[in-house]
Amino acid sequence: MELKGLILSGGEGTRLRPITHTSAKQLVPVANKPILFYGLEALRDAGISDIGIIVGDTEEEIRKAVGDGSAWGVRVTYIRQEAPLGLAHAVLTAEEFLGDTPFVMYLGDNLIKEGISAFVEEFRNKEVDALILLAHVAEPQRFGVARLEGNRVVQLVEKPKDPPSDLALVGAYMFRPCILEASRAITPSWRNELEITDAIQYLIDNGYRVEAHIIKGWWKDTGHIEDLLEANRMVLEDIETSIRGRLDEESRVLGRVVVEEGAEVVRSTLRGPCIVGKESRIVDSYIGPFTSIYCGVTVEGSEIEHSIIMENSTIRNMPGRIEDSLIGKNVEIDRSFILPKAFRFMLGDNSRVGLI
Ligand code: DAU
Repeated sequence: MELKGLILSGGEGTRLRPITHTSAKQLVPVANKPILFYGLEALRDAGISDIGIIVGDTEEEIRKAVGDGSAWGVRVTYIRQEAPLGLAHAVLTAEEFLGDTPFVMYLGDNLIKEGISAFVEEFRNKEVDALILLAHVAEPQRFGVARLEGNRVVQLVEKPKDPPSDLALVGAYMFRPCILEASRAITPSWRNELEITDAIQYLIDNGYRVEAHIIKGWWKDTGHIEDLLEANRMVLEDIETSIRGRLDEESRVLGRVVVEEGAEVVRSTLRGPCIVGKESRIVDSYIGPFTSIYCGVTVEGSEIEHSIIMENSTIRNMPGRIEDSLIGKNVEIDRSFILPKAFRFMLGDNSRVGLI
C-alpha cells in the first residue's frame, strides 16, 4: 500500500516561551539532534518517502534545517498553514498534497522511542479507516484520551477534566482519506481549534472502523520544559562513548560521553551520559549526567547538570551549579565583578530565572 507522511511542524509553542518567540519548538535539540529529525527518521524507517511538512510562522527556519529531505533519502513538500487552527485544520490544509492516498500524520514535537514502523505495518495489514497510537500515562487530562472496547476505539476526548481511561493519544495517526470528510464536518472546539480527536470521533459515529495500537516503549510530547529534559535524559541513556573532539590530559571522562568533532575540553570533568557538540569549548568546568551541550557553546569555570544548552551560548564563572535548565541560542551568562555588586539581566519576555 502506498502511504504518504504528514508531519505537523506549525503551531506556536506557547509553553516553551521565550525559546519559541524566535524559534520553532520542533527544532529544539534533544541529545544534540532537533526533535523534528527524530520524526523524519521514524517515517523514513517505516518506508515512507513522500513527506509533507505543515509549517507556520517558523517556515524559513524549518526549511533551512530540513531542506528537500535528501539528507534522509526522502522527498519533502512544505505546506503553509495560515494559522495554527488545529490538527484537523492542518489535515485540510494538506488536502492537495494528500490526494486520496492513505497517510501517517506525525506531530513534529513528539518523540517515540520505538519509532512507528510496527504501527505503520499494522495499518498496512488491516482493513481499518484509522489506526491511532496510544500509551498508558499518569496524567491523561493533559492529552487526548481514548476509551476502547477490545481493539476498537469507541470514544475520544481532548484534554478531559474527567478522563474516561489512562490511555493517551500519542502523536502519530494512520488515516485513510475519509479523515478529510470528517475534518470538514466538525466545528471548532472550546480552544477554537479543529480537533483531530473530534474528526476521529466523527469517523466512529459514522460507522468507520477505528482501531488502536498501544506502545510499550517511552514516548514524549516535548511541549513543556520538564518533558523536554526528560526526553533528553532518555535519549542520552542509550548513547555510546565516542570522543572525536580534543581532550587535554587534565580532563576526565567518566561513563558514556560523546565529544563531537572540533570540540575542545580543557581541565574539565565530563560525567556521562552527556554530549558536547561541535566546536564547543569546555574549560575548567564540570559537565554532569543528562546534559546536552549543542554546537559552538563555551562553558568556563562552571558546573552544569541535567540541562540542554543550545547553540553559540556562553556560560562563565557561575558561582553555583546550573541544573534542570533549557538555555536558548546566543545566550550569555557571566559573573560580573563590577561594583556595585548587583544582578544584571537582559531577559526576553516570559523568561524564567531561578537564583540560589
Ligand atoms: O502529543 C500528543 C497530543 O498532541 C495528543 O494527546 C492530543 O490529542 C493532540 O491534540 C495534541 O495535543 P497538543 O495540545 O500537545 O498539540 P500541539 O498544539 O502541541 O500540536 C502538536 C504539533 O502539531 C506541534 O508540533 C505543532 C503542530 N501544529 C499544531 C496545531 C494546533 C500544527 O502544525 N498546526 C496546528 O494548527
